[in-house]
Amino acid sequence: MAEQLWKGRFSQAVDSRVNDFNSSIRFDQRMARQDITGSMANAAMLGAQGIIPESDTEAILKGLEGILADLESGVLAIDPEAEDIHTFVEQTLTARIGDAGKRLHTGRSRNDQVALDIRLTLRDMAHGLEEQLADLIDTLTAKAEEYAGAVMPGYTHLQRAQPITFGHHLMAYVWMLLRDLDRFEDAVARMDAQCPLGSGALAGTTYPLDRRRTAEALGFAAPCQNSLDGVSDRDFCIELASAMSICMMHLSRLSEEIILWSSWEFKFIELDDAFTTGSSIMPQKKNPDVTELIRGKTGRVYGDLNTLLVMMKGLPLAYNKDMQEDKEAIFDAVDTLALCLRTVTPMLATMRALPENMRAAAAKGFINATDCADYLTKKGMPFRDAYKLTGSLVAWCIGHNTVLEALTLEQFREFSPVFDEGIFDAIDLVNCTEGRISEGGPCAASVHRQVEQAAAQLAQWKEKHHG
Ligand code: ARG
Repeated sequence: MAEQLWKGRFSQAVDSRVNDFNSSIRFDQRMARQDITGSMANAAMLGAQGIIPESDTEAILKGLEGILADLESGVLAIDPEAEDIHTFVEQTLTARIGDAGKRLHTGRSRNDQVALDIRLTLRDMAHGLEEQLADLIDTLTAKAEEYAGAVMPGYTHLQRAQPITFGHHLMAYVWMLLRDLDRFEDAVARMDAQCPLGSGALAGTTYPLDRRRTAEALGFAAPCQNSLDGVSDRDFCIELASAMSICMMHLSRLSEEIILWSSWEFKFIELDDAFTTGSSIMPQKKNPDVTELIRGKTGRVYGDLNTLLVMMKGLPLAYNKDMQEDKEAIFDAVDTLALCLRTVTPMLATMRALPENMRAAAAKGFINATDCADYLTKKGMPFRDAYKLTGSLVAWCIGHNTVLEALTLEQFREFSPVFDEGIFDAIDLVNCTEGRISEGGPCAASVHRQVEQAAAQLAQWKEKHHG
């Protein structure tokens, strides 16, 4: 059973250490279903083209169906001694149906077979990730709606800068994640564009294959136009890994903010106990481990992308065994992102914001200073003068341990006679936030609008995938 498919020309057995080193069954067994699907399309085409007898095609199709059913029910176990999943499926088939099984590989090589299998597998995995991402987007959008009007300080350089709303802050992540969804769609679209099956080992074949038929049966737009490119292209792995890296970067940034926000220094949010952990020595601790792990695992996904890029950069055409390394890297990236999404979504769903603390933080740090300068500008003072005057007001407040809102009109007027009663409305935090009516801005109405726009975009995706 564990014999290699390529035994023919060798007189001596391969060293067991080389066999172990060479074997990919440990990780490519995840492609079993896709390998069988691809083989079924190949067998159907070989029969229809008269390359193998129709009766053999029938036997192969029945045999492969049986193998798939038995693998899924657990009746049949993958043989860990097999060299790879392709070998395992073909040898099991031949053991079950005899000579017809030996005709399955006619005009095909494991090189075009594996290129096909990874595409089919990643297509399925990417769809799974998209579903998870859509859930996360739904969850974050609902939170943004809930806190559409919750005033908080917005930051630059991690210094309090201008007033925003928590809803606006969360929606920023929704837009990032919607772009991620788009990037996954895009990567899959290109993955599905060209079918490598029929490229053979590298140089096509002399059999009259119908490559259009297999491409169509397997959900591809067309067969690939060049057999060398067909067997040696791994762009689609790199594109998906890149889309996943960007998505992890977004999750990591959000995680970093959650770590900050849940600290006593900020206390803007409270994570549910079920999504935090304690310390073995410090009884008071409630740690945001989930977010720290996401931040940590981001490096791991970048590493997978780097593995793929470096693996490919020196390879002459066409197939090289180096390329076997693609699967561990890309599957690790998929598994890692899936794991993160699975945990972060319920963590965010159960996260509680503390708007009173956000509001209190917004009251310190002079985040309405720009609004004070804008007020003077609207009264006719050139912006640069208004900026300077407000700066001296802020300095005075710092020196006297007070804030702009606490000054009297007389105190304001000592700095400029331009000030009148209107200044108090102008620097009121809620007014400052709600007054930021520019498109894409932080006011509650803008958050509601963004929620609607994001939901419409997600609805398009749902329509496409769920009808
Ligand atoms: N396990 C191999 C891989 O993942 C399958 C292709 C083997 N082809 C070969 N010429 N040895 O790349």
